[in-house]
Amino acid sequence: MKVTLKVWRQKDKNDEGRFVDYAADEVSPDMSFLEMLDVVNVGLVKKGEIPIAFDHDCREGICGSCGMMINGRAHGPGRGIATCQLHMRSFQDGDEIVVEPWRAQAFPVIKDLMVDRTALDRIMQAGGYTSAKTGGVPDGNAILVPKPAADEAFDAAACIGCGACVAICPNSSAMLFVAAKVSQLSILPQGQAEREARVENMIAQMDEELFGGCSNTYACEAECPKGISVRHIGRLNHELLRAKL
Ligand code: SF4
Ligand code: FES
Repeated sequence: MKVTLKVWRQKDKNDEGRFVDYAADEVSPDMSFLEMLDVVNVGLVKKGEIPIAFDHDCREGICGSCGMMINGRAHGPGRGIATCQLHMRSFQDGDEIVVEPWRAQAFPVIKDLMVDRTALDRIMQAGGYTSAKTGGVPDGNAILVPKPAADEAFDAAACIGCGACVAICPNSSAMLFVAAKVSQLSILPQGQAEREARVENMIAQMDEELFGGCSNTYACEAECPKGISVRHIGRLNHELLRAKL
């Protein structure tokens, strides 16, 4: 199949940036979207042009680094998948595909499709951890966790920190990300020591990084590759109120 790509090219964060058209003529429907970009890049290198910069690592939906907007959708068409899990069979022969970086004030463009997502790391540093005494490995059954709590914490822990929730939100809110991280730890007995400080510090850091407030559109849940539910945002609000009281 043949597709035309309209790819955002931007030298660095100070460059204005612009869309550039590329013809991808030898695309297999079984290629992943990133493999298709690899082929386009090989062609660019052969012509002596600078390849399209994009982030990727695991290429199996685990690391969260490959996010980009494809035809206005975070991680492209399809639900519950990251860009690296998107296949070209999701498109038609002759399609025009618009590819852009995440657009949010808190995610400055580094180059082309790569953005700086370290704001999410700083939110994690502000409270996304638990304290544990040093020493021998504790007995596995020393702290019992009820099954419903373990399941709910596991659902929240599925967040891969990709930033799609921010990119698709009209307010560039990071509430779903922060909610998943706070929720995961506040449910578990191991997360109780820093419970109040965690939610207050992570929310303060989120505001400092210039993420917006929740827009209540549920776009974050719809585009999240891990299906993180907005009910975690409800828990985040509850945790914050509890900490304040
Ligand atoms: S909540 Fe979903 S969309 Fe947001 S960072 Fe986590 S995995 Fe990505
Ligand atoms: S490359 Fe790791 S999630 Fe896509």
